[in-house]
Amino acid sequence: MSPENTRVAIIGAGPAGLLLSWALRDAGIDSIVVENRSQEYVLARIRAGVLEQSAVETLTRLGLGDRLAAEGLEHDGIYLQFAGERHNIDFNTLIGRTVTVYGQQEVVKDLIKAHTDAGSTIYYEAADVAVHDVESTSPRVTFRHDGEAHEITADFIVGADGFHGVCRASIPPKAITLYDRSYPFAWLGILADVPPSTDELIYALHEDGFAMHSMRSPQVSRLYLQVDTADSIDQWPDERIWEELQTRLGVPGWTLHEGAVTDKSITPMRSFVASRLSYGNLFLTGDAGHIVPPTGAKGLNSAIADVVLLGAALVGHYAGDDAPLAGYGEAALRRQWKVQQFSQSMTEMLHRNPGDLQSAAFDYRSQLGRLDYLTGSLLAQRELAEQYTGLPF
Ligand code: FAD
Ligand code: DHB
Repeated sequence: MSPENTRVAIIGAGPAGLLLSWALRDAGIDSIVVENRSQEYVLARIRAGVLEQSAVETLTRLGLGDRLAAEGLEHDGIYLQFAGERHNIDFNTLIGRTVTVYGQQEVVKDLIKAHTDAGSTIYYEAADVAVHDVESTSPRVTFRHDGEAHEITADFIVGADGFHGVCRASIPPKAITLYDRSYPFAWLGILADVPPSTDELIYALHEDGFAMHSMRSPQVSRLYLQVDTADSIDQWPDERIWEELQTRLGVPGWTLHEGAVTDKSITPMRSFVASRLSYGNLFLTGDAGHIVPPTGAKGLNSAIADVVLLGAALVGHYAGDDAPLAGYGEAALRRQWKVQQFSQSMTEMLHRNPGDLQSAAFDYRSQLGRLDYLTGSLLAQRELAEQYTGLPF
């Protein structure tokens, strides 16, 4: 057994865990990160792609902005496409704010490099991770690493271990309520070696379902299709994916360029919020506490927003002020419920409801009405712009 001590033990080396550990280091507060996957696996995981302006500012303030400034693609707005027409929503003109396309994978790569250069303690491939005594003032984390048993005693434990992690599950069921809903469709996402065919992201509602054109760099496109929840990836050979993308994204006079598909996966869509983000000296951040359907590009940004709040609250605690830590859960959830309603409404506005024929036909026309209103109303566009570019952290 190797006993260790630290101020904050962080479970999970996703963006939330790595960023919190980095923000604490910046403030002179020790932490240790425990991750159950390998570093290679964490670096290879392809997920979100859009950073809110406040997320960019946070990463830059913490010294993580060099490659982001050089390689991130700043976007002034998006396109909304429906009924065969494409409409530009220019956030910068509407409210003077922008977003930046920079893959979550790149954020994680920058964080891991910064931690490696600084000599941070991160245990990868930790097995049997468990948290104990979270109601006490000396909670513990136990795990096995390289065949050896480890125990870390800390002032606080932070669950940054995603939706399937162990931290939220360690809160007694009587003390927590889980609010959730699933959606009757899923997203098939591809990465393709082809320059993007668009200057801004395209979100399209088509009779056959939702489609989106995003990107990762001037050479790499990222595209998504609404598919059935029961679909498996084998049912979607590359030719079928491109054909469906051509149909759903096509408008006269525009060409979608195709290229080699280098990654493809299907993701279920879910909304989920835990009723509390703290229990004793355990705090939850990011996907451990809440999940959004990806249509509003809010998952990664919400994780970063939590970390900003929790990091400041922990710094406050060590400076003698416990009020922000006591208020962390409530403040983070208040912001999160606003993000939830935005993500839910974007999702419902842009996906085909596969329900019974009569209600599906009604819903589709009602969605077209909503999109027609939105693209014709500056007030509605300003509201979309404010929420898409991000509420204040
Ligand atoms: P995670 O990134 O999930 O990190 C949690 C970490 O904890 C992981 O490294 C995991 O291995 C580790 N862990 C789990 N259990 C344990 C354990 N028991 N012990 C130790 N470590 C553990 N959002 C968008 O906005 N747009 C998208 O297109 C998008 N696509 C997505 C696609 C997929 C397949 C998924 C799953 C999510 C997607 N998201 C997307 C959401 C976004 O990526 C997440 O919101 C974001 O990753 C949250 O970061 P996090 O650090 O809280 O959690
Ligand atoms: C991406 C993902 C999203 O969920 C979104 O709304 C926009 C872009 C992306 O992966 O690029």
